[in-house]
Amino acid sequence: MKTDINATSATTSWPGLIEAYKNWLPVTDNTPVITLQEGGTPLIPINSIGNRIGKKVKVYAKYDGLNPTGSFKDRGMTMAISKAKEEGCEAVICASTGNTSASAAAYARRAGMRAYVLIPDGYVAQGKLAQALVYGAEVLAIKGNFDRALNIVQEIASKYPVTLVNSVNPYRLQGQKTASFEIIETLGEAPDWLCIPMGNAGNISAYWMGFKEYYKSKKSKKLPQMMGFQASGSAPLVIGKVIDNPQTIATAIRIGNPVNREKALIAKKESNGAFLDVTDKEIIEAYKLLGKEEGIFCEPASAASVAGLLKRKNEIQNGATIVCVLTGNGLKDPDCAINNNDASFSSGLEPEIQTIAQRMGL
Ligand code: F0G
Repeated sequence: MKTDINATSATTSWPGLIEAYKNWLPVTDNTPVITLQEGGTPLIPINSIGNRIGKKVKVYAKYDGLNPTGSFKDRGMTMAISKAKEEGCEAVICASTGNTSASAAAYARRAGMRAYVLIPDGYVAQGKLAQALVYGAEVLAIKGNFDRALNIVQEIASKYPVTLVNSVNPYRLQGQKTASFEIIETLGEAPDWLCIPMGNAGNISAYWMGFKEYYKSKKSKKLPQMMGFQASGSAPLVIGKVIDNPQTIATAIRIGNPVNREKALIAKKESNGAFLDVTDKEIIEAYKLLGKEEGIFCEPASAASVAGLLKRKNEIQNGATIVCVLTGNGLKDPDCAINNNDASFSSGLEPEIQTIAQRMGL
């Protein structure tokens, strides 16, 4: 448990995850640390979700949407870009459904490198595209999906002097595993369930690595069951085969051929976990609940973890501790928010007290 953190140290002393966990990461004193002080994200109780389950469970959101570029990708990117810099690389490339491209662009440019990002044309949320552009990436939108883009960047990185920073880059998962360390430090123990959305399945693999490392070092006495969730139209790990034309409102996880499939399956098996799909409707229900009952705005892909938890609530043991990973910030996808909410919105009103009071029901 972290103790004795006063307001000043809490706001000024978090150095970023490489500095915080350097003994657990493949870095040396010669590694130039490229950081935006990522990591150290809050673990927030989400009681309205817990109440829907009953059984005295405790449910928390690991809100990784509060990272510097608004997603968990920053955890991996600080490592991948620092190591690329150490190796003298001058340009990086990635395929992305949006968040990886935003993060790669931010960290690469901070390190003085070029960033090439391949995205599926028309299927990247506006906020993410805006970020990649503002961070100064070279954005290449292809007439094809993420899986095709990943094939292309893998081939390019094998032929040209550009470093691949998708999650096949082993440093990415090293950085991302630190989220498990933070969860154990905050709870004082590993949770019983870790609920997480899956796309390319790198993050679930990274979390599992982190949980195992702390367990082996006796920093926790148990390991969580890894519960991975995919969107129904885009659930290759659930149905056990590649999907050629994946579809879902959660564009971040619109992936039909996950590159980290084997690692994720090992995590499921070793942890006695499970993979399940959730429909777009279930994702949006969870997304709205988090917003209007908890004040947490995540992106639709992230809400898959909560949707999945609610769907499997009958299997949860009494008194269990559950962590849902909220991988990305809701501001990433404003179109989804505007089209999917239960708010009342009156526009074009006359700027008069009486009109406003009347609309307020006063
Ligand atoms: N949640 C969000 C918000 C994501 O952006 C992603 C992946 C995932 C979950 C799934 O993580 O791939 O490690 O299983 N986004 C990638 C991208 C593919 O390009 O930004 P995963």
